[in-house]
Amino acid sequence: MARTRIGIIGAGNMGSAFAKRLAAAGHDVTITAKDPAHAEQAAQQAAAAGGSVRAVPRDQIARDADVLIVATYFPDAPDALRAAGDLTGKTVIDISNPLTPDMSGLSLGHTTSAAEELQKAVPNARVVKAFNTVFAQVLGGTGRAQVLYAGDDASAKDAVRALIESAGFEAVDAGPLANARQLEPLGLLNIYFGYVAGRGTGIAPAFVAVA
Ligand SMILES: NC(=O)c1ccc[n+]([C@@H]2O[C@H](COP(=O)([O-])OP(=O)(O)OC[C@H]3O[C@@H](n4cnc5c(N)ncnc54)[C@H](OP(=O)(O)O)[C@@H]3O)[C@@H](O)[C@H]2O)c1
Repeated sequence: MARTRIGIIGAGNMGSAFAKRLAAAGHDVTITAKDPAHAEQAAQQAAAAGGSVRAVPRDQIARDADVLIVATYFPDAPDALRAAGDLTGKTVIDISNPLTPDMSGLSLGHTTSAAEELQKAVPNARVVKAFNTVFAQVLGGTGRAQVLYAGDDASAKDAVRALIESAGFEAVDAGPLANARQLEPLGLLNIYFGYVAGRGTGIAPAFVAVA
């Protein structure tokens, strides 16, 4: 895949795993966080794993990126994106599972989704839902999980599919952005299997041909 300029907002479990995996795939990666030291630490860890990642201030993350990955919790995502700079035409990947505080359910759904709410908050950007069914431990590893992605803009979806495949995952087109209403509960089910049913965080859902 062509080298893509990717900006990661958030340097926690998911942000740092993205930094490692996408830089190792040869992309031009920048990362930011609320605390600049956290972004710097994630950049250094990715470099140690063989990639090249730059930590940048929050208001500069959109400047050098064509694709932005929002790796904050959903309540922080709209403000984090609005503070990121001009988002016109940018592809924005929403990876969130909008969990209730006790993590037992979703704070919204059925008639909307976190992805659709984020798209409303940043109408100039092109939001694609992806990676919400992938644990950070899977993202930061080398396994070939399925990554389901959904969006309304064909070229933004093409860019996300190419990014998913470049990182060694199988990309599964899950339709329009409104299908995030189904992907987010699937993320919650993944959390149930991983943490409640005791399967651990090395798992990921997969659609398989059986007939
Ligand atoms: N963890 C998983 O396995 C997993 C799997 C699938 C999906 N997700 C989704 O991924 C998202 C992130 O989860 P996580 O586990 O990586 O969370 P996390 O470890 O708590 O990391 C959150 C990051 O967001 C940053 N942040 C918060 N507000 C910000 C802002 N306004 N501007 C810039 N950065 C900001 C924080 O910065 P500081 O470091 O400076 O505090 C932190 O680095 C969530 O929506 C979650 O539902 C997680």
